[in-house]
Amino acid sequence: MLIFGHRGASGYAPENTLAAFELALEQGCTALELDVQLTRDEQLVVIHDFWVDRTTNGTGLVREMELEQIRQLDAGAWYDAKFAGEKIPTLEEVLNLVPEHILLNLELKIIPRMRGNIEQLVIDLLMSKNRQHQVIISSFDHSAIQIVQEYLPEIKTGLLLYGQLLDLPKYINANELDLFSIHPAYPYLTEHTVAVLNRLKKPIYTYTVNRSEDLGWCYQYGVDGVITDYPDQAQKLLEVYR
Ligand code: G3P
Ligand code: MG
Repeated sequence: MLIFGHRGASGYAPENTLAAFELALEQGCTALELDVQLTRDEQLVVIHDFWVDRTTNGTGLVREMELEQIRQLDAGAWYDAKFAGEKIPTLEEVLNLVPEHILLNLELKIIPRMRGNIEQLVIDLLMSKNRQHQVIISSFDHSAIQIVQEYLPEIKTGLLLYGQLLDLPKYINANELDLFSIHPAYPYLTEHTVAVLNRLKKPIYTYTVNRSEDLGWCYQYGVDGVITDYPDQAQKLLEVYR
């Protein structure tokens, strides 16, 4: 079972910061999930919320802020004083930090009314660094997945899902989504849903699985990967099961 550090090792360090990614790597994590957004000046930054308010000392909508403003914010002190000085990283900084063999799940966070060309910018950056291979691009905005596929058909894409589904195979076919993986929300997974998703013959990577009993459930029902805030604990538990 593949273990993705969700926003890095975000159970121990401020989410989506270089400190959180470094820690996940130190813990032996071989896959990372991170959230990518566009600033007003079309720079790619790594932050989960559309607003900077929860995870920094600033206020404002990421899409309405310039990179320079964003770089002045402290993205660590809200979590713990020992992380004061952590910044909202750019995607490029994360790529520079993370070794090439680590699988990166880049989740594109998009406000549809304010969408720019995040897909193209992400792919251009990946290609400029020859990092387009060990990457899965996922999004709750499924039009982003279509755009990514049109722009670079060979790149891996993951379908992010939330809630109880009707006929997923029909949805995927109707929209001609050529997916690498399916990323359902764990609370909605049942044995039946796993069986339905398994018929698509694509890896299932579920989020966000933090409790040992839930990790155990995923293992028992053959889920291919978990996205977790505690990658070290997931790893330990897996060793017990093996
Ligand atoms: O990519 C999995 C997961 O991160 C999706 O939800 O809200 O944590 O970005 P969220
Ligand atoms: Mg995410």
